[in-house]
Amino acid sequence: MFRSVIVGTGAIANAHAEAIAATPGIELAGVVDLAAERAQEFAARHGSPAVFGSLAEALALAPDAAPDYVHICTPPGSHVDLAIEAQRGGAVPIVEKPPALSLEDFDRLLASEDETGVPVVGLFQHRFGSAAVGLRGLLAEGALGRPLVAVAETLWYRDDDYFAVPWRGTWGVEGGGPTMGHGIHQFDLLLSILGPWASVRAVAVRQNRPTETEDVSSAIVTFENGAVATILNSIVSPRETSRLRFDFEHATAELEHLYGYDSTHWTFTPARGSEDLAEDWTARAGSTPSGHTAQLAAVLAARESGERPPVTTADARRTLELSAAIYASAFTDRTVAAGEIVPGHPFYASMQGTGAPWAAVTA
Ligand SMILES: NC(=O)c1ccc[n+]([C@@H]2O[C@H](COP(=O)([O-])OP(=O)(O)OC[C@H]3O[C@@H](n4cnc5c(N)ncnc54)[C@H](O)[C@@H]3O)[C@@H](O)[C@H]2O)c1
Repeated sequence: MFRSVIVGTGAIANAHAEAIAATPGIELAGVVDLAAERAQEFAARHGSPAVFGSLAEALALAPDAAPDYVHICTPPGSHVDLAIEAQRGGAVPIVEKPPALSLEDFDRLLASEDETGVPVVGLFQHRFGSAAVGLRGLLAEGALGRPLVAVAETLWYRDDDYFAVPWRGTWGVEGGGPTMGHGIHQFDLLLSILGPWASVRAVAVRQNRPTETEDVSSAIVTFENGAVATILNSIVSPRETSRLRFDFEHATAELEHLYGYDSTHWTFTPARGSEDLAEDWTARAGSTPSGHTAQLAAVLAARESGERPPVTTADARRTLELSAAIYASAFTDRTVAAGEIVPGHPFYASMQGTGAPWAAVTA
């Protein structure tokens, strides 16, 4: 039986505890939070046998009681330090999105992977619904032809009360606005299907929220395989929706959901002459919903087969690099290529890079 410890017992930690409870072969061994009372209440609610004073305390337990996995559910600013602490203690960190505040911050995780040999799991649960897995399978087999055009829209609504929590809407702790915290779910799924991106041209604006960061961003992204996608990330949209659309040579696949999907949220339209694909899609789409449970199952399956647990650092970094490139393009008004943001580049160390244009106006 594998043992999990959850660090940070706020809102999203519930999804982790529920996933652990729903997954055979793994159990919740304890929780940690800076707020002791919140940790106690969470432990009681989810049947955790222990509340630890710190992650170090949990990692110092005898090997047969120490955690195998540490679920990092704290605000983004603490993800990398906690993940490295877990790795050094021999536990695999499962790090909530966004995995790090910047590419520089993320690259400390890569160095720690090399040093400790312990992999990091990036938590991006939308890759794991069976319909997304099935779509990737059909594409990999060549059944869909080339991907040509795609759309990823995250149109969500977060009011001023949401931003009353001190870490939200800040570059220093949240790392960015919807490009880092909300739309990242949809464009991570987009990248999981379309593969490596090549270049991006973007805008980011602050329309209506009392934040340091943007509340809307939009981008045109090209991919190594020639596909072109548009991305829209908003937290000022009263009718909320999350939408993805993929036009392949032989079919269109569309997803409309809000915070999670199953196969009923997808529609699949074969091109004229490719009607047989509809049956293949139905066979592949399955019924597993996206979510933390689906990703945890994939993590344990990878352990069983000796593969790197998904989402790997290579994949998570590509998604984080797209966030960085959206900011770099928006704030410097130019196209940014993949691989361009390296040490010394202003957007390597911080997503705000040279600074949001509105910072100068409001300073
Ligand atoms: N995957 C998803 O769908 C999803 C959804 C919401 C949030 N998130 C992500 O999950 C993370 C947490 O978000 P949330 O909304 O649950 O936050 P939250 O504010 O509700 O909870 C965070 C908890 O972490 C605790 N904490 C902070 N620093 C700590 C530290 N160093 N050690 C121990 N505990 C610490 C806080 O006391 C708090 O209880 C963020 O990265 C967020 O982007 C992911």
